[in-house]
Amino acid sequence: MDKRIGNTVINTCSVTHCHSRMPILREEERVLDQHFLHFSYVQGFTPTQSDSALFIQFTTPPHHSFHSLHRWYTHIHSYGAEKLKFPGPKHTSLSFTFNNTKVTIMVNKTTEETGVVAMDSLSLAEKDSGQGQGQAEDIVDPWNVQASSNKGIDYDKLIDRFGSSRIDEALLERFERITGHKPHHFLRRGIFFSHRDMHSILNRVEAGKNFFLYTGRGPSSDAMHLGHLIPFIMTKWLQDVFDVPLVIQLTDDEKYLWKDLKLNNCHKLAYENAKDIIAVGFDVNKTFIFSDLDFVSGEFYKNVLMVQKHVTFNQVKGIFGFDESSNIGKIMFPAVQAAPSFSSSFPLIFGAKKDIPCLIPCAIDQDPYFRMTRDVAPRIGFQKPALIHSTFFPALQGAGSKMSASDETSSIFLTDTPNQVKKKINKYAFSGGRDTLEEHRELGGDCEVDVSYMYLSFFLEDDARLQEIRQEYSSGRMLTGELKAELIKVLQQIVKDHQERRKAVTDEVVKQFMTPRPLNFTGKS
Ligand code: TYM
Repeated sequence: MDKRIGNTVINTCSVTHCHSRMPILREEERVLDQHFLHFSYVQGFTPTQSDSALFIQFTTPPHHSFHSLHRWYTHIHSYGAEKLKFPGPKHTSLSFTFNNTKVTIMVNKTTEETGVVAMDSLSLAEKDSGQGQGQAEDIVDPWNVQASSNKGIDYDKLIDRFGSSRIDEALLERFERITGHKPHHFLRRGIFFSHRDMHSILNRVEAGKNFFLYTGRGPSSDAMHLGHLIPFIMTKWLQDVFDVPLVIQLTDDEKYLWKDLKLNNCHKLAYENAKDIIAVGFDVNKTFIFSDLDFVSGEFYKNVLMVQKHVTFNQVKGIFGFDESSNIGKIMFPAVQAAPSFSSSFPLIFGAKKDIPCLIPCAIDQDPYFRMTRDVAPRIGFQKPALIHSTFFPALQGAGSKMSASDETSSIFLTDTPNQVKKKINKYAFSGGRDTLEEHRELGGDCEVDVSYMYLSFFLEDDARLQEIRQEYSSGRMLTGELKAELIKVLQQIVKDHQERRKAVTDEVVKQFMTPRPLNFTGKS
């Protein structure tokens, strides 16, 4: 059955762009929704002219119930006028098929016309959101995190831009219903704010089936900072709640390729960092930690090669911004970070099973790796990994950038002494307090920009006390010094406890975690 789901008639003589578009029907949206359930874009890995052409056929956003189509729509919308520059030929029609229903969209015929319509559509669609050319964008990728405004990263915009989904109340309620656990405060407070396919993981749990967890660390220094703890704390909690196996990748190869470090040094740092990770409290019976330099071989390497064969240089250029001067190790590395998403990379743990899905907790900077992984997975016969993304634990200087090991003054390290913690917070933690005591008492502090308050929202578990601090500080009754003193106490304790647990992690314990071996889990699949 062939249908036309929209067309465009353009009067190029008129500067007012008289054109009419057939509204897209519900039934037709349903077919598109199925397409975007399985594919990120109309074609392949990166947005192309076909996405711009389809986007402009929508006179209004697609219906919310078409979750995948809606996600695609808001994602393409987030490109603003940049979508005019998407690569690829300008097709005259686009076809989609689902359940023997084929829908065909007629698009305009000439390049100029496409431009005219697209521009016109943009001005209509983006008027309200204030997007389009000239607006600075936040930069978020595995190597840079920089907000375009002093309010910090706009995470809502990032969800649209990356095409992920918000962790909303409905998801949290479902999580609690299925697991019987109140969601972790990182989830309740929106610190983990975005996900991909978390509902599919919950469907699996509901059906009594298993999945596995995967996360990682790029060992570039021997001291990890508080921000690095966030995904590991979440992962440990998820491991406890779901009782599932976990693999942790230490990308010593990645750090060698990107940093000015010797190969042996990266390998040594992987083992140092493993101690910090183990100190978070993972269960040795259910956790395998590996250094790429030691482990990449056999079934794992076969999966690396399959990914490499199905992703082109053009695609990784688009996703990661590589260029002709990037060393070739960088160009192939994303396949190494992709491979642990597939259960068949770990035959000792999962046997020959190729279809055990994986859930990856990480901060949103790592998402580009997994966008690539999710796109390639079905083409090589594997499941797409699911993800939950965290916001960034901010730099001491403010939410404009993340806490980063490469800027020492931005960070509180897990090796810091109580005195260093105190000094750093007192000296560097950006304050939302007012300039004078009188002003502060009158106007109150601004929790939205205050780094000490933000840090407390990550590490102070007591909801009632956090709420009380918020009220006291924003009413002006609590002063910056008092807020900082409260934070210092909390963080000194966290760092001290961590250091004590780390001391108990001997080389022998590290060896246990890092020995390839079967893991002990319930085995449902
Ligand atoms: P790396 O070492 O840069 O970071 C390790 C983990 O910490 C997260 N992270 C942060 N989270 C919150 N606030 C911050 N300020 C902050 N800084 C870093 C990162 O998102 C990451 O989850 N290529 C990766 C290593 C890796 C990996 C993975 C990470 C390999 N496989 C799978 C996550 C999931 C890296 O260099 O991470």
